[in-house]
Amino acid sequence: MSTAARTEPARRAEPSLTLVTDRAREAGDGREPAQRHTDESYAGVLGFVRKLADRALEDLDSAIARDPAASSRVEVLLTSPGLHAIWAHRGTHALWSLPGGRLPARVLAQVSRFATGVEIHPGAQLGRRFFIDHGMGVVIGETAEVGDDVMLYHGVTLGGRSLAKVKRHPTVGNRVTIGAGARVLGPVLIGDDVQVGANSVVVKDVPAGAVATGIPAMIRFPKRDAANQWVDPAIYI
Ligand SMILES: CC(C)(COP(=O)(O)OP(=O)(O)OC[C@H]1O[C@@H](n2cnc3c(N)ncnc32)[C@H](O)[C@@H]1OP(=O)(O)O)[C@@H](O)C(=O)NCCC(=O)NCCS
Repeated sequence: MSTAARTEPARRAEPSLTLVTDRAREAGDGREPAQRHTDESYAGVLGFVRKLADRALEDLDSAIARDPAASSRVEVLLTSPGLHAIWAHRGTHALWSLPGGRLPARVLAQVSRFATGVEIHPGAQLGRRFFIDHGMGVVIGETAEVGDDVMLYHGVTLGGRSLAKVKRHPTVGNRVTIGAGARVLGPVLIGDDVQVGANSVVVKDVPAGAVATGIPAMIRFPKRDAANQWVDPAIYI
C-alpha cells in the first residue's frame, strides 16, 4: 500500500438526496422537506395575521366598553381618531426597533399626528386595550411606558421635564384613567388603578388606587361605599 493511500482519511459515503428525502418522509408526515418548509411559513404568516386581527378586535371592544357614545365596532373602526393613532403607533413602534427604521418611523408618526391630532413618539411603549377618547392634543413622549387597559382623554400629555437623553417620561400602570387636559410630567410612576383628574398636573409618583387632582396634583384615596362593602360579590357576576 502506498503512503498516500495510508494517510488519506477513509471517505464516508455521502447519503444521496433521495435517501435523505425518503428518511424525512418516513420520519414525518409524508411531505417533502421543501413543502413542509412552505407550509410552516404560511402557518407563521396566518398565525401573525390572526393575532393582529384578534388584537384589533380587543381594541375595538375596549373602546366600546369605555365610550358610552360608541354603538358598534364598525362605528369605532371608522370614527375613532384615538384608536387610529394607537394602531399607527403599533406599526411605527415595530419599525422603530429595526435597523434603519427610526427615520421612517418618525415620518409615519408625523403623518399619523396630522391625520389624528395625536402625537405618539414611536419609541413609547403602550400596553394592550389602550384607548384614547377624542384624541386631539394628546402627546406621549419617547420613553413613556403605559400598561394594559389604560384610558386617556384628549389633551393629555405624558411628557418630560428634562432635556437629557434618559428615561424622562412617565410609567403608567394598568387600568389607569387620565382625565382631559391632564399633564403627567417626568419619570414618575403612576400606580395601577389610579385616576388622574381633568386638567391636573402630576409631577410626583401616585400610589396604586389613588385619585390625583389639582395643580400640583393632591392624592386622595376614594372611600369605600360603607353600605355595600359586605355585599356578596357574586351578585355582580
Ligand atoms: C378626578 C375624577 C376621576 C374624580 O372623580 P370622583 O372620585 O368621582 O370624585 P368626585 O367627583 O367625588 O370629587 C371629589 C373631589 O375632587 C374634586 N375634583 C374632582 N375632579 C377634579 C379635578 N379634575 N380637578 C380638581 N378637583 C377635582 C371635586 O370637586 C371634589 O372636591 P370636594 O371633595 O372638595 O367636593 C374626576 O372628577 C375626573 O376629573 N375625571 C376625568 C373625566 C374627564 O376627563 N372627562 C372628559 C370627558 S370628554
